[in-house]
Amino acid sequence: MQQYQHISAKAFGPDFQWGVAMAAAQNEGAYNIDGRGLSIWDVFSRRQGKIKGAAKPYEACDFYHRYKDDLVLVKALGFRVFRFSISWSRVLPEGMGRVNKEGIAFYNKLIDECLALDLVPYVTLYHWDLPQELEKNGGWTSHQMLKWFTRFVNVCTEAFGDRVKNWIVMNEPMGFTSLGYMMGKHAPGKTGLSNFLPAIHNAALCTAEGGRLVRTAVRGANIGTTFSCSEVMAHTGRDEDLMAAKRADVLLNRLFIEPVLGRGYPHEDHFPLLDKIHLHNKAWKYTERMAFNFDFIGIQNYFATTVKYNALIPYIHAMEVKAATRKVPHTDMGWEINSDSFYRMIKRFWLYGGVKEIIVSENGASFKDQVVNGVVNDEKRIAYFKDYISAMLRAKKEGINIGGYFAWTLTDNFEWSEGYAARFGLVHVDFKTQLRTIKQSGYWFRDLLRSV
Ligand code: BGC
Repeated sequence: MQQYQHISAKAFGPDFQWGVAMAAAQNEGAYNIDGRGLSIWDVFSRRQGKIKGAAKPYEACDFYHRYKDDLVLVKALGFRVFRFSISWSRVLPEGMGRVNKEGIAFYNKLIDECLALDLVPYVTLYHWDLPQELEKNGGWTSHQMLKWFTRFVNVCTEAFGDRVKNWIVMNEPMGFTSLGYMMGKHAPGKTGLSNFLPAIHNAALCTAEGGRLVRTAVRGANIGTTFSCSEVMAHTGRDEDLMAAKRADVLLNRLFIEPVLGRGYPHEDHFPLLDKIHLHNKAWKYTERMAFNFDFIGIQNYFATTVKYNALIPYIHAMEVKAATRKVPHTDMGWEINSDSFYRMIKRFWLYGGVKEIIVSENGASFKDQVVNGVVNDEKRIAYFKDYISAMLRAKKEGINIGGYFAWTLTDNFEWSEGYAARFGLVHVDFKTQLRTIKQSGYWFRDLLRSV
């Protein structure tokens, strides 16, 4: 892998949006106060064996009460953008119906505080925390989903659209549909194609319709949506491995962006599952509705992956394996660090044509950080950021319109099924005391961003 040493934020230009991102369910806590309804994550985390250490998101890093201090940290580290998500069950406790005034008031205070600190708010509408009341009626598998989502988007744009101009409709639809509705590893813990297929289609529809709703409601809005992506490599050059890698690539990198760009769902002869997606959703009828001309596309990249053929894995006949032929470094979550693959993924999204601007809306790494004498020496994270940001610069210098980079994440937080074991923050959190300690990577960003 290429090692990059010296980077200057100046090289990205004065208008580049340097930000930090987080999500409601992972940070806010305060799960049952001020009128908030339960989300699928509150309920899912009660199921035995689903979350490491039986962790619950109930308190998380208590952002709900500490947002002012945390925003001061964002500012102190030199970021200009603050990306956060709105908890649907905080503003609409039953998912539909009555609006919770206290929930709206919280986000009003948060937005106002951002503006007072001269931080640009980027609001994610859906970051995986569906209200439990909607899940009871089928959640993302229900044909009512678009109606429910419309109500949520309208409540948010009406309440916040006067001050928030940057909107992200959906966070990584592949993440929550596959982990939550196929593999049962994330909330709501559903499995199988009968859940996965309708969830895919409802997420694709809500992404584009959500974009249209924001466009209508918010004057001058800058509207985007985010996709996860990971370069997929074949374990060997054998045909069966190459085909396995191609199938994984369709799911990980193409399934959701292609409908947005007006191409409908991807189609590959060797992958019958895709026919089911088309058939199940009578997709052709929807091709137009699944398309939307977003102002920017958020790319979220954490790792590269290697797969090999395995007949026993249903539908995809592929399984993830450790890279055999290449010696590669990993994060403490076992994710392959490969900044060159990040560069190639940025390029791929751009080369589709039709993407106006790319924002790297999440990127980061988890390591087992410890505070020793008041210091968190997370050199590996610094090396990760150096590599990935340099790879992004390489893509930008080739003429790709990359408008911003949001690091994941400000503070250590509730990392979904990993509970509190995986730490991604630039700021360490002691979850017993909620004490924050800026890690060396946080200081590294401060120094990097000083020059802009
Ligand atoms: C998600 C985040 C998550 C991060 C690290 C992204 O897929 O959007 O919520 O914490 O990855 O796993």
